[in-house]
Amino acid sequence: MLPQAQVINTATAALGMMNITDSEFKKISELVYTRYGINLTDKKKSLVVSRLQKLLRTEGFVNFDSYYQHLLSDKTGKGLTELVNRISTNFTYFWREPDHFEHLKNVVLPELAQKLKAKNDHDIRLWCAAAATGEEPYMLAMVMRDFLGADAYKWKGGLLATDISDRALQVAQKGIYPSKTLNKLPPHYLKKYFKKVSDDEWQVVDEIRNDVTFRKFNLMGPLTFKKKFHIIFCRNVMIYFDVPTKDGLVQRLYDGTEDEGYLYIGHSEALGRNKCPYKYVNPALYRKI
Ligand SMILES: C[S@@+](CC[C@H](N)C(=O)[O-])C[C@H]1O[C@@H](n2cnc3c(N)ncnc32)[C@H](O)[C@@H]1O
Repeated sequence: MLPQAQVINTATAALGMMNITDSEFKKISELVYTRYGINLTDKKKSLVVSRLQKLLRTEGFVNFDSYYQHLLSDKTGKGLTELVNRISTNFTYFWREPDHFEHLKNVVLPELAQKLKAKNDHDIRLWCAAAATGEEPYMLAMVMRDFLGADAYKWKGGLLATDISDRALQVAQKGIYPSKTLNKLPPHYLKKYFKKVSDDEWQVVDEIRNDVTFRKFNLMGPLTFKKKFHIIFCRNVMIYFDVPTKDGLVQRLYDGTEDEGYLYIGHSEALGRNKCPYKYVNPALYRKI
């Protein structure tokens, strides 16, 4: 006789897309919103089903309600970890919105380095707050190294890269990427900071990988870092949040920014001008003044 989970698997596989009731969707979307701030509107129903149904079938849940009950009772936290791994969108690529990297290298870093140098301080602290699979923080580390040149060894602060998805962070830590994801990267970076590790894959060199510290961190929680950051990149994550969630996060980021420090957000995002504690500098760039 087949085990029960296998019977369910076979049956549901034959049925195609699983069904989710309005009440099941409400429960799961509220859980995701409360824990992670991700706002799953009704339009995202089919996305939720497509991202979770394989898990439900493999694990033998008969419907989304039994899966939800499991999430509530699971004391290990593994269920929620897997949920956010599947629900979060980790899309990113090297050299995304490149004017930010140019601005960082040509405007922000020279100004900051000069200010800190005057105090014999080499502690430049950067935080990439939605690092996904690592392309963005590695890009920042490459820009930093290019800017610092021979003085790079004096750089103390380092680069913190966080995300809520531990699956994305595992990819990030390896730093291995297929050639096609490097299409947009200017050749200079590929030549200087990558090594070919197979026919179709490149790995970020150790020097750059060692500059970046990856940590799991939920942007919905309080900032628990010891020191404030001079530069924060928090790009293309607030698009998944509603206004109150975004406002709360922006205030926490502000509190975690050094005076005169910068916040970069995605170009398709905007901070409400009335409530925003930062000063607007350019599209997608804000400053704590
Ligand atoms: C679309 S990616 C953006 C990646 C990169 N910043 C960029 O602009 O290319 C959004 C990332 O935000 C992360 N994320 C979503 N909600 C989060 C939360 N509450 N805390 C931390 N990270 C979160 C997701 O896991 C995902 O990797």
